Amino acid sequence: MRTATPSSLALLATAAHALPELLITKRDADLRTSPVARGLLKRQGGGTVETNVYDILTYSSGGAYYANVTVGTPPQDQVVILDTGSSDLYFDASTAPACDTTGPYSCRGGTFNPKNSNTYNVVDPAPAFNTSFGDGSTAMGPFAEDMIGIGDVVLSNVQFGVALEVNSTTGYAIGLMGVGYSENEATQHQYPNMPEVLRDSGVINSRLYSVYLNSIGETSGSILFGGIDTSKYTGEMATLNLLTDVNTGGIDQFISTVTAMSASVSGKVTPMFSGGSNSDAAYGQTDTALPVLLDTGSSAWSMPQNYYTQYIAPAFPYVDQQGLCSCSHQNDDTTLTLEFGSKINITVPIREFVVPIYNSTTNQPYPYSSSGSDTACAFMIVPAAPTGQGFQTLGDAILRSMYVVFDLDNGQVSLAQAALNSTASPAIHTVSAGASGVAKAISSASYSGAPQQTGSIAAEVNGTASFGVSTAQSTIGSATGTAAVPADAQASGTSGGSRSGGSGGSGSGTGSGGGATSSAAAVALGRTRSGGEVRWSSVWGVGAWVFGMGVLGAAVVL
Ligand SMILES: *[C@@H]1O[C@H](CO)[C@@H](O)[C@H](O)[C@H]1NC(C)=O
Ligand SMILES: *[C@@H]1O[C@H](CO)[C@@H](O)[C@H](O)[C@H]1NC(C)=O
Ligand SMILES: *[C@@H]1O[C@H](CO)[C@@H](O)[C@H](O)[C@H]1NC(C)=O
Ligand SMILES: *[C@@H]1O[C@H](CO)[C@@H](O)[C@H](O)[C@H]1NC(C)=O
Ligand SMILES: *[C@@H]1O[C@H](CO)[C@@H](O)[C@H](O)[C@H]1NC(C)=O
Ligand SMILES: *[C@@H]1O[C@H](CO)[C@@H](O)[C@H](O)[C@H]1NC(C)=O
Ligand SMILES: *[C@@H]1O[C@H](CO)[C@@H](O)[C@H](O)[C@H]1NC(C)=O
Repeated sequence: MRTATPSSLALLATAAHALPELLITKRDADLRTSPVARGLLKRQGGGTVETNVYDILTYSSGGAYYANVTVGTPPQDQVVILDTGSSDLYFDASTAPACDTTGPYSCRGGTFNPKNSNTYNVVDPAPAFNTSFGDGSTAMGPFAEDMIGIGDVVLSNVQFGVALEVNSTTGYAIGLMGVGYSENEATQHQYPNMPEVLRDSGVINSRLYSVYLNSIGETSGSILFGGIDTSKYTGEMATLNLLTDVNTGGIDQFISTVTAMSASVSGKVTPMFSGGSNSDAAYGQTDTALPVLLDTGSSAWSMPQNYYTQYIAPAFPYVDQQGLCSCSHQNDDTTLTLEFGSKINITVPIREFVVPIYNSTTNQPYPYSSSGSDTACAFMIVPAAPTGQGFQTLGDAILRSMYVVFDLDNGQVSLAQAALNSTASPAIHTVSAGASGVAKAISSASYSGAPQQTGSIAAEVNGTASFGVSTAQSTIGSATGTAAVPADAQASGTSGGSRSGGSGGSGSGTGSGGGATSSAAAVALGRTRSGGEVRWSSVWGVGAWVFGMGVLGAAVVL
């Protein structure tokens, strides 16, 4: 779904391409002092591309991860949400009525003027690209192709949507880069999307990228296409088969399972549930496992209402009816441990899911107590009604603590505990194509190998398109420190220390009503497919943050 923060993408390509890797930068930290950031901005050589990914509160609902890319000749700068939960790249057109305004709902990530690009071609006229969002927001226009710059590569003939009309009901209009399976593109005419273009152009070996969002208090994380950076996680890495999509019977989304969970509060461990299946059986009503969509485009973890009531609410009694609590709890000695696929435990510190919220006008922390001495944080695990898809969305609140290798070719994800705030030098390993690509790349004692994938993986388009690749004159999205973050996105408050996350949250039903309007839902991607079947909109479920989202959506849209 879409609710990420822009990442500045830095792709690379030359004869021997580096893996594309994008830094993920957050607002406050000074990347110039971070060896990690510096390393990420360099070409690694040998089949990867990397770019910055950073989160910016004021761009949308907060807590999203964004990348900078360019489009056209000469290149026009764009900020796009990085979204593993959708599959199209699109930009807001400069002529979109919403982009004419300067108000809080204007287009904040830059706009694209096709007239100013001499390499622009319409592929499929409007309204070929027609996407609706979970909360009723929409984007519509033609599909086109042009040069796209990402990191230090520039690719030609890349297809994307141009939003001639974009209506955002609760957040800023902003472009998006969906990096999911091309089968889920918002079109009946499937085309090679970014992971496929990078692979087809020879920049990377297979459709695979690694996402490291990093701690909420840090300004920098990254998306690395085509490789794995072993310096960015600790302990074991485990590879899990993705679940199939109940609608299509194939593997076409990043659905995994949470098979067990426990909380640790001041050293006291409370088991919550365990023993679920790591397979499609997890969809069954009686199975305790939770099928989850690993979605950088969502800020919260949407959890079934009954799990929330039974396990989360008692463990976090101070979370109020609006899904808020005092930011003082960020410093509690509390963690959640999630077991994924019966294979690996990920521990998530409370500060990654108790997230400060800010006033969008003043960029000041939002007071929690009437005296104003206490600031408000949003609790980023939210109860949600069933989506009808069998899974719910696990977003940045949890993903920040994970290093996730999204392996589209093999229908798998490889997960490890993220090394938060890592200052180690990058150790980037290029992944080769094939079922043992990950194993060969990391060849580590703490890797047990990939399971055999027997599921059917969504078919790719058998295109004849050829993609040119050249080296960007200067790396795109490689700014560091505050320079990486648009001025209007920089918080002025100081309390709380970390201020990446923002409110976000998931919530906002679509399909099924649910009057909640979440700011994050503003960017929850709805998708219309052939026959008008709306597939994605319900993913966001009904009224996560049933009580509070309206308040948050209105007050804390960032
Ligand atoms: C966007 O909103 C405008 C004005 O409210 C409306 O005329 C237009 O049809 C909407 N566009 C879409 C794609 O929903
Ligand atoms: C990461 O850095 C943030 C702020 O920079 C800090 O609050 C947090 O405790 C650090 N986490 C770790 C695991 O070092
Ligand atoms: C995860 O942690 C729990 C609690 O310590 C433990 O029982 C379980 O075996 C662990 N799972 C894995 C895959 O290591
Ligand atoms: C592409 O070709 C392969 C092999 O011929 C086929 O299995 C697959 O279904 C095709 N994909 C599409 C989208 O047509
Ligand atoms: C991304 O683009 C924004 C808006 O143009 C700019 O302010 C910011 O510095 C850029 N960040 C990076 C990392 O390039
Ligand atoms: C876009 O898709 C929606 C939902 O299917 C449909 O109602 C609408 O008419 C379409 N818009 C255009 C301009 O075709
Ligand atoms: C944000 O700050 C502005 C200016 O001080 C104020 O008018 C507005 O009420 C604040 N918003 C919220 C939700 O508190």
